Amino acid sequence: MRYISKNIEETKQIAQKFLDTVECIGGGYVVALQGELGSGKTAFTQEAGKILGVIESMRSPTFVIEKIYKIDWQGFKNLIHIDAYRLEKASELLHIGWGEIIKESENLILIEWPENVASIVPENAKRIYFKFINENTREIKYEN
Ligand SMILES: Nc1ncnc2c1ncn2[C@@H]1O[C@H](COP(=O)(O)OP(=O)(O)OP(=O)(O)O)[C@@H](O)[C@H]1O
Ligand SMILES: [Mg+2]
Repeated sequence: MRYISKNIEETKQIAQKFLDTVECIGGGYVVALQGELGSGKTAFTQEAGKILGVIESMRSPTFVIEKIYKIDWQGFKNLIHIDAYRLEKASELLHIGWGEIIKESENLILIEWPENVASIVPENAKRIYFKFINENTREIKYEN
């Protein structure tokens, strides 16, 4: 699927369409969000969080690397937002328990900058590609 978003509300609608494709699998559900700085990875995650019932404000976890939000949606109990921007190697993510996180089928994991930890992103991860078109326009693509 390829979408053009002209504002946050449209990005929310695209997040909704993506979430419609998500289902519990036999392990954590990993979504790798790829795209340059400012292309809308965090914005997409925040809109997805609202749809999933997260009421706290979701700040980008750039410095803390990981944030966990409680959800209760289609068998998922945790929305885990990871920002690997500051990570230099995959082992740094292993230190925060990545191996366990991706085993648990109640976890829906959205990870920004998966390129930085490419070797430990599971084969079956879903990939969403973001592109900055102009100030308010973003391209959002995923396969399904
Ligand atoms: N159509 C749109 N969809 C999403 N965000 C948009 C759109 N138009 C403008 N924006 C703005 O673009 C910015 C996107 O920033 P965001 O932090 O989501 O990018 P990012 O990909 O997470 O960057 P980083 O790599 O630095 O983490 C936000 O300030 C948002 O308000
Ligand atoms: Mg971000």
